[in-house]
Amino acid sequence: MSQPAVTIRPAGPADFEGIIAIAIATGQDEDWEAAFPGYLRHLLGHGTLLVAERAPRGLVGYGGAVQIGPSAKPVSMLTDLFVHPAAHGAGIGRALLGQLWDGRPRRMTFSSLHSHALPLYTSAGLDAWWPLLYMRGDVRRLAMPPGWAIEAAGPDRVGALELAWTGADRSACHRFWATGPRGAGVVARLSGRPAAAGSVGGAGAEYGICHLAVDPAMPPGGEARAGGEAGSGGLAADAVIAVLAGLDAPGGLARACLPAPHPAVRRLLAAGWRVGGFDLHMASEPGLLDPRRIVPSPGLA
Ligand SMILES: CC(C)(COP(=O)(O)OP(=O)(O)OC[C@H]1O[C@@H](n2cnc3c(N)ncnc32)[C@H](O)[C@@H]1OP(=O)(O)O)[C@@H](O)C(=O)NCCC(=O)NCCS
Repeated sequence: MSQPAVTIRPAGPADFEGIIAIAIATGQDEDWEAAFPGYLRHLLGHGTLLVAERAPRGLVGYGGAVQIGPSAKPVSMLTDLFVHPAAHGAGIGRALLGQLWDGRPRRMTFSSLHSHALPLYTSAGLDAWWPLLYMRGDVRRLAMPPGWAIEAAGPDRVGALELAWTGADRSACHRFWATGPRGAGVVARLSGRPAAAGSVGGAGAEYGICHLAVDPAMPPGGEARAGGEAGSGGLAADAVIAVLAGLDAPGGLARACLPAPHPAVRRLLAAGWRVGGFDLHMASEPGLLDPRRIVPSPGLA
């Protein structure tokens, strides 16, 4: 018997209940009352959110994307792609992806390790470039690097600094992160001058860096030293350590999602931080994100 046809259409607030049911069925662990609906509203307002519907069951999948970067050369960041487990392998993920990325050749995502994900994104022209490590640890074991200071900043100030440094206007995302639990903007200054800017926040054990951009004039560090000894990391690493050291984290514990090649990784591991898992940064070309400078959000980049 042939499968009933699947319809792909833009989502609206009336779909949130069905989307949440799929998110729960695929094992996501979220705050279903406030944070997740707030995230879906952010996607409706500032990105694209599609649902897949199959009669008579109703919603069987959803996918989201946001556009990042200079408008002349935007990158489509796939934020979500989830199909109900009862409908896996029936072409629904591919159908959602086809519509989300239609006409958007510069693409990226953080792929899960689900067996369908990497082959699907590879067939959409992406390659896996580096792991995104989900790190957790104690901020009290991190000393503020010399010359650095952290100050609170509004999301528009953070967004303006990032725009000046990278050409990407992430102000809407910074405003969204600021509305989350304990959400706040931060600017890290080196010798008085802004050198990194981002958003922090998150409930309970999720508290930590949401996203951090670093002035590209900063050397990333981590280069091998003479004699082959690995460098301890330069200013991009210092920026991450400074922001984490400045956090008032509950019980001292915080998280940061770091590209594996980021020079802060070795410093955090040496301070007893641990990697709890990873996703894969997949992109249509290398260089859409600089893994030695950016601390991206796994969902919104
Ligand atoms: C990843 C996911 C979105 C893919 O959606 P899907 O509807 O299951 O996938 P599709 O049926 O469209 O298949 C897409 C590709 O996956 C691969 N695939 C499908 N079934 C497979 C199987 N049994 N074994 C291995 N690969 C398989 C194939 O490459 C397939 O493309 P093809 O059929 O043209 O060869 C879905 O499986 C899912 O929600 N997984 C759990 C949540 C998750 O990890 N999401 C990804 C977040 S980044």
